[in-house]
Amino acid sequence: MCAVFLVLSLPRYLTFDPDRSRVQQPGDFTLHYPLLVAHILFGTVAIVTCCLQVWPWLRQAHPAVHRVSGRLYVFAGALPAGALGLVVGATSPNGLTMRMSSVMLSVLWLVFTIAGYRTARQRRWADHRRWMIRSFAATMAIPLNRVYAWLLEATVLPAPSSNDPAVQEAWVHNLVGNADWPGWVTTLLVAEWWLTERSARAKHKARAARRRAAAAATPVTTTRPADLPTREGPS
Ligand code: HEM
Repeated sequence: MCAVFLVLSLPRYLTFDPDRSRVQQPGDFTLHYPLLVAHILFGTVAIVTCCLQVWPWLRQAHPAVHRVSGRLYVFAGALPAGALGLVVGATSPNGLTMRMSSVMLSVLWLVFTIAGYRTARQRRWADHRRWMIRSFAATMAIPLNRVYAWLLEATVLPAPSSNDPAVQEAWVHNLVGNADWPGWVTTLLVAEWWLTERSARAKHKARAARRRAAAAATPVTTTRPADLPTREGPS
């Protein structure tokens, strides 16, 4: 899904031609396009390194690569892309729902990533894993919201037949606004479910292991039938 998203979205921004941007410049904010392109380039680093970080084989077989790619994810990916996401989000020309959703996701992305980095520095590995899973879930919201936009357009929000710019604009606002927030709500809910499920499973395993250890430590006492009291009393 990530590769398809990058192949479909990235090339037009690598031309550095504002006319090929899918996002119009809001008002006279001329810095918008360079900031948007920077956001997309850092976002690409985030999405590629995020996929590397969650690959179990790479983590186990090449921990050094995991560490380098983790630093790239934080410092050349999520933090700069998230900070720029705040700016392009707050100034988005695509309506209030899109602006609210983008600012919210940028803040969450920054908070999760900073918390993940801090807990790694403090060597609190269990907490580090939890925060990074949330940060990766925020990254994955982006390709998913493009899928939602496509689904909406194919079902309940088809493109209007009218060429009236006001109608077209209202439709774009409606489409991107309603596809954006469900993307991150879905991926963050899945991440929380996964974390809760894993911790419940780990607790269950630990309890079973404690029970087995206690059973192994208890001496087995067997009572011979001859030692049992009879109706007549002990012989
Ligand atoms: C997770 C936090 C992110 C937030 C909050 C965010 C926010 C935004 C915003 C507000 C825009 C402008 C759209 C508009 O005004 O309608 C945008 C555009 C864009 N972003 Fe992000 N973004 C994030 C992550 C990413 C990532 C990881 C990538 C990966 C490459 C990415 C790629 C793009 C692309 C390609 C565009 C241009 C719009 C398009 O052609 O589809 N973003 N982003």
